[in-house]
Amino acid sequence: MPTSALTVEVALDPYTFRAQLVADARAGLTAQPKTLPPVWFYDERGSQLFDEITRLQEYYPTRAERRLLERHAGEIAALSGADTLVELGSGTSEKTRVLLDALAAAGALARYVPLDVSIEVLTAAAEDIARAYGIDVHALVGDFTQHLDRLPGGGRRLVAFLGSTIGNLAPVARARFLRALGDQLGPGDGLLLGTDLVKDRARLVAAYDDAAGVTAEFNRNVLLVLNRELGADFDVEDFAHHALWSEEQRWIEMRLRALRPLSVRVEQLDLDITFAEGEELRTETSAKFTVDQVHDELAAARLAVTATFGVDEGEYLLTLAAPA
Ligand code: SAH
Ligand code: TRP
Repeated sequence: MPTSALTVEVALDPYTFRAQLVADARAGLTAQPKTLPPVWFYDERGSQLFDEITRLQEYYPTRAERRLLERHAGEIAALSGADTLVELGSGTSEKTRVLLDALAAAGALARYVPLDVSIEVLTAAAEDIARAYGIDVHALVGDFTQHLDRLPGGGRRLVAFLGSTIGNLAPVARARFLRALGDQLGPGDGLLLGTDLVKDRARLVAAYDDAAGVTAEFNRNVLLVLNRELGADFDVEDFAHHALWSEEQRWIEMRLRALRPLSVRVEQLDLDITFAEGEELRTETSAKFTVDQVHDELAAARLAVTATFGVDEGEYLLTLAAPA
């Protein structure tokens, strides 16, 4: 029988996490326009809702990425030669199994290192994978914009960053993140990056504004996080979900629009804020990429592309890269 060991390491303790929420909420809710960073979506309920999003008919990225993984995982495993699969923003690690299977079949798989802020989902996925694969699983509770230096070293690591989650970072944060990641990768290590591609507006908007309203509930859930964690008194019924495509920025924006003039108390910040009717709180951007852009952004982080998958379909892109 293969032996497996499960370790859960906490790089982001609950006190620091809360201090960041306090800082983000105060800065974002008093800004003009009002904003909140996307990391706060993913409490236990938010993670569940995201999981539902991935199964929606309108939300094509998960299926497109899975299809590419299924088609190319063997080649990715062979090219990477990795014994360790690291995954950033791993969530339920569902699609990851396709990669784990291919790495195991290639013979060298010894360790899986998922990193996520959402502790419940992370630990559940880590336990399942340790049991199913009989490999070492080192789960890291952390923020991929802060804790890349906490990733365990050793061996040949393939770092997977899937789900086009990189598109949820604003351009400056994204460049900084990629540089930090490039700095962490040594010879023999690699990066597998999943990015959604620019396509027609109707398809893009539908993926972020589904008919069943799951994305709307996901968006509004961030208000419930503020209610619970900071003693705010948002009524989610006062806000409408709004998803729009910005042609100039090439990103989807998600906003929450106040349906009437409102005042909201955020008890633990000792803060009162007002919304005019129609005023919007910006909660998320999801950038869409071109193949050349991914190339250029990786190059700027001293990462060289070794292979791309999905270019022909033009729907979604997997890029394999290595330190230049
Ligand atoms: N990789 C999965 C999940 C994508 S959803 C997939 O492709 O389906 C984004 C995931 O990243 C969630 O699990 C969320 O909890 C996590 N996440 C979001 N921001 C993060 C951050 N700053 N640091 C670490 N994890 C983050
Ligand atoms: N990485 C996903 C994306 O940008 C996250 C996501 C999917 C998302 N649907 C969302 C984020 C709706 C906010 C709102 O596609």
